[in-house]
Formats: sequence, structure tokens, C-alpha cells
Amino acid sequence: MPKIFVLRWGHRPKRDARLTTHVILAARALGASGLMLSDIKDEKIKEMIEKITKNWGGPFLFEMGTPWKKVIKDWKEKGGIVVHLTAYGENIQTSDVLQRIKTLEKDILIIVGSQKVPREFFSETISDFNVAIGNQPHSECASMAVFLDRFFEGTELTRSFENVKVKIICQKRGKKIVRNN
Ligand SMILES: C[S@@+](CC[C@H](N)C(=O)[O-])C[C@H]1O[C@@H](n2cnc3c(N)ncnc32)[C@H](O)[C@@H]1O
Repeated sequence: MPKIFVLRWGHRPKRDARLTTHVILAARALGASGLMLSDIKDEKIKEMIEKITKNWGGPFLFEMGTPWKKVIKDWKEKGGIVVHLTAYGENIQTSDVLQRIKTLEKDILIIVGSQKVPREFFSETISDFNVAIGNQPHSECASMAVFLDRFFEGTELTRSFENVKVKIICQKRGKKIVRNN
């Protein structure tokens, strides 16, 4: 199964801290192998994801500060493809875009924005596919989550993590966890 990484572009520490945190947590929980926070370093976000993987398991790669153009150049040099999530792209429901992506059987870098993204993101030199999770504007976290779930067809929801210290035992009611020290 190809691996999926996420490029989070346009993070503004004061304004986007909570949403970027949610994008990272959702990426990890829903089957992505890692996330690159491009162009900026945010130590609080780094601490948060390190704490999560230490307790709830990994592996999950987190990198920050690399310029987005370099992240994409390096990714393409390694043979991966780039999928830009945008309301303006090919609708994942009404087109065959997901099938075309899957047929390639290549690792995928998903780009999600926050503020208005550079026009170049839509171009062939950057994105192999522009994919819309419906053609209404909504959220980077929601669009990434739907893409991951459709790509992995729900299998990501039963994925097991390595080096787990805290684990939820699911039940009909109440909260049950086990701790491995
Ligand atoms: C809040 S939106 C950006 C809005 C910004 N004002 C603009 O015009 O680009 C943040 C990110 O969510 C993602 N997004 C929002 N709606 C989407 C949709 N319908 N399909 C796919 N991605 C979407 C895109 O990655 C976008 O860059």
C-alpha cells in the first residue's frame, strides 16, 4: 500500500495553532505516515506531536521549517506524486480522480493550505492532481480526513501503532484505557 504524507502550508502560529494541531492529529490517526509543516518552525506544535507519538504510538514523521518548494522537489525526486486538496479541483465523488491516483501505486504527498494558497499549487509543475472534496469551501482538516478515508477505504481505522504506552479499550459505555510502562 502506498504511503501518504501531508504538507501543511501557510501555518500562522497565533491564528492556526489549534487547527494545525487538529490536522496533524487527524493525519496520524487516519493513516498518514507523516506531516511536513512547511516554511515555518513552531516548537509548541512539535512538542505536542512528540508527546502524542510517545504515548499513543507511531511511527509518525514530523518535520518543520523546510521551504515548500524544497519539500515538493525532494518528494518528486524520490518518485512520489503530489495531490493538492482544493475546492476548485476535480470532485472526488463525481470524477474518476481517486481511481487515477490509486492506479499509479505511488507514495502521495497531500498539500493542504490555510490562508489563500500560491497559484502555483494548481500548476502541473507542482500538483499531479487537484482534488476537491466537494466543490464547497470548508476545511483543510475535513478535506484531508475524507481523502485519507476514501484512499484507505476505512482500513486506517483499525491500524495498529508501534511502541504504544496508552491504548483505548473500546466499549459500549464509559472510558477504559490500558497503560504499558
Ligand atoms: C479554509 S481553506 C482556504 C481558503 C482560502 N481563503 C482560499 O481561498 O484558498 C484551507 C484549505 O482547506 C482545503 N479545502 C477547503 N475546502 C476544500 C474542498 N472543498 N476540497 C478540498 N480541499 C478543501 C484546501 O487545502 C484549502 O487550502
